[in-house]
Amino acid sequence: MNQHLTPPPVPFIDVISQRNRLGKSIDDAVSRVLDHCQFINGPEVTRLEADLAAFCGAKYVVSCASGTDALLMVLMARGVGPGDAVLCPSFTFCATGEVVALVGATPVFVDVDAATFNMDAESLQRGIATARRLGLKPVAVIPVDLFGQSADHDAIGAVAAAQGLFVLDDAAQSFGATYKGRRLGGVALATATSFFPAKPLGCYGDGGAIFTDDAELAETLRSIRVHGQGTDKYDNVRIGLTARLDTMQAAVLIEKLRIFEDEIAARNAVADRYARGLGNIVAVPRVAPGCTSVWAQYTIRLPKGCDRDGFAAALKAQGIPTAIYYPKSMHQQTAYRDFPVADGGLPICEDLSADVISLPMHPYLDEPTQARIIEAVRGALQT
Ligand SMILES: Cc1ncc(COP(=O)(O)O)c(C=O)c1O
Repeated sequence: MNQHLTPPPVPFIDVISQRNRLGKSIDDAVSRVLDHCQFINGPEVTRLEADLAAFCGAKYVVSCASGTDALLMVLMARGVGPGDAVLCPSFTFCATGEVVALVGATPVFVDVDAATFNMDAESLQRGIATARRLGLKPVAVIPVDLFGQSADHDAIGAVAAAQGLFVLDDAAQSFGATYKGRRLGGVALATATSFFPAKPLGCYGDGGAIFTDDAELAETLRSIRVHGQGTDKYDNVRIGLTARLDTMQAAVLIEKLRIFEDEIAARNAVADRYARGLGNIVAVPRVAPGCTSVWAQYTIRLPKGCDRDGFAAALKAQGIPTAIYYPKSMHQQTAYRDFPVADGGLPICEDLSADVISLPMHPYLDEPTQARIIEAVRGALQT
């Protein structure tokens, strides 16, 4: 058997190559935590928060247990609850709208832009009107910087400001990206991110953080993170959560942050090669002027009428994995289909859910492997 003729499977996201690159620095960082045994609120947590603030320019960073907690804590801190409406894009991971429902408020889903996959400011405007017509009080908007690319924060911020809404940016997939020269984290009232292992900056478990320039909000978030603790540890002053980032994860993230800039550059090089190799055969992602992407995903749109399952199967047969983010937009999912959508409907979200597919993307994707992926994609589309 000519086994060597079958090329090895390609990883969708290559956590192992990064682990090998970081090697002993991670082992040493984890060992230091094992030595001092401050597993909760150890010195690495404070250090990471300072490093993240320096990286993105936010005044305050509150680390926490996940990206979902990061979103939830901001809504809790701002007292969002029953009768309130929070505007969210529907083409996103479920956590964006889930946290709104968790605090008892109503997510109102709005459409996205076909080129960037991010929130469409006109649909946002319509969604706010829809919420008011339904007797809800619109209080906040959660734009998502999807697949690594910054949303159009000026357009969204202008609508929000005119209508008296605050902006909570869901940058779970996009920490490290910029909007008009500013890193996400300093663009909205509050920005939430996730350190889930598959994210551009991921830890070795669950983790998240909130970024803000608002001192009072940061203080409230620090209290919510520990059961609503006040200055007296046993006099809780509000309802809170157990939502701390543990010290071990902070230690890992400190090391990963050191190579993050370099990894972002490598992700952009991979994205450029995909665009050159595939741009004339499928709709490749476009980065809007003034925005950058950290390429959490490389998501293409297949031509109309193309059999997506057949396309994925053809790639899989050649050892190339794909993923569909998201086969159903939130308003199409069982748990969310009774929540309101912006007047005019969400046709772009629905089109995207029907025709997107994501290709392997990570900073360690070498040129020969990527050439193999590009060739397989072209071959699958030409058959
Ligand atoms: C857009 C978006 N928001 C929120 C989250 C939630 O983050 P976590 O999994 O850390 O709770 C994710 C995670 O995939 C996400 O992609």
